[in-house]
Amino acid sequence: MSELAIEIKGLSKTYKKSKKSPEKVALKSIDLEIKKGSFFGLLGPNGAGKSTIINTLAGLVNKSSGTVKIGGIDIDQDQQASKFKIGIVPQELIIDPFFNVRETLEIYAGYFGIAKNQRRTDEIIEALGLKDKAKATPRSLSGGMRRRLLVAKALVHNPEILVLDEPTAGVDVELRNQLWNYVKKLNQAGTTILLTTHYLEEAEELCDEIAVINHGSVIACDRKENLMKVLSSKELVLTASEEINPELLSAFGDLKVKLLAKDKISVTYDPEKVAVERILRSCFDAKIQITDISTNQPDLEEIFKHLIGSK
Ligand SMILES: Nc1ncnc2c1ncn2[C@@H]1O[C@H](COP(=O)(O)OP(=O)(O)O)[C@@H](O)[C@H]1O
Ligand SMILES: [Mg+2]
Repeated sequence: MSELAIEIKGLSKTYKKSKKSPEKVALKSIDLEIKKGSFFGLLGPNGAGKSTIINTLAGLVNKSSGTVKIGGIDIDQDQQASKFKIGIVPQELIIDPFFNVRETLEIYAGYFGIAKNQRRTDEIIEALGLKDKAKATPRSLSGGMRRRLLVAKALVHNPEILVLDEPTAGVDVELRNQLWNYVKKLNQAGTTILLTTHYLEEAEELCDEIAVINHGSVIACDRKENLMKVLSSKELVLTASEEINPELLSAFGDLKVKLLAKDKISVTYDPEKVAVERILRSCFDAKIQITDISTNQPDLEEIFKHLIGSK
């Protein structure tokens, strides 16, 4: 048995030119391995390609190249079988308007060929706090309730893997907390969770492994603790009164120093371990006269670049 819930190799996607948009390269040879039982975060800014990956898993987007295995099953070999392994909560709140909550779940269970006495409709309705709305039509549901219904729909066939594509966008705090509690429980019971988000805090709070994606490429993939070490770094930019002799930088010892311009250096440091005072003292030791100081909390983009550089 494969220990991987999801295995993606060399996945590329180029959306063809249409009347509305030019050709768009959305994914460039993505490799991802998601272990069974993990809570995996796919973190990246809008337009990074997260939904394209998710929709490829869901069979909604035709990949341009690469292989995708879900629960060990290659989607090109047997897409139908792969769909039984995975439940997907799409980013868009698309819901069939003709059926009420309970009917929607029953229809989905039927679609997966689950016998009536094996269905978990009531359990799922209860778990997602949809009991009062069981007979409500989707049109009458608030955004948050629709999101719950979409999660419920993704769970009717008791999938090994649950995928949530930006589930908290536009959702109130209470629902968000409830949703996370429930998803955490599923994960503790063995369900692999794949979550996409553009909120660093969300990935930080929930996930044990995080892949950072930007412009269609994976630029970092590691256990959360390792990534957070880099993400918590700060940058101090120092401007000197005259040109800085690069040889003087040895005064900074093991601090990460970079010459930005003839008279400008940047020092990247972990504020929990290094005091600014130590950096300033190194400047005095190097006889660098400082005329200006600024700090940067490096934004994700910079950290991403840093991550690429260090790999
Ligand atoms: N159906 C489509 N046709 C053309 N371009 C698309 C389509 N869907 C997404 N894109 C483009 O592909 C890129 C990745 O989009 P997406 O996967 O939705 O990113 P994310 O989910 O990370 O925000 C974006 O530039 C987006 O505009
Ligand atoms: Mg998206």
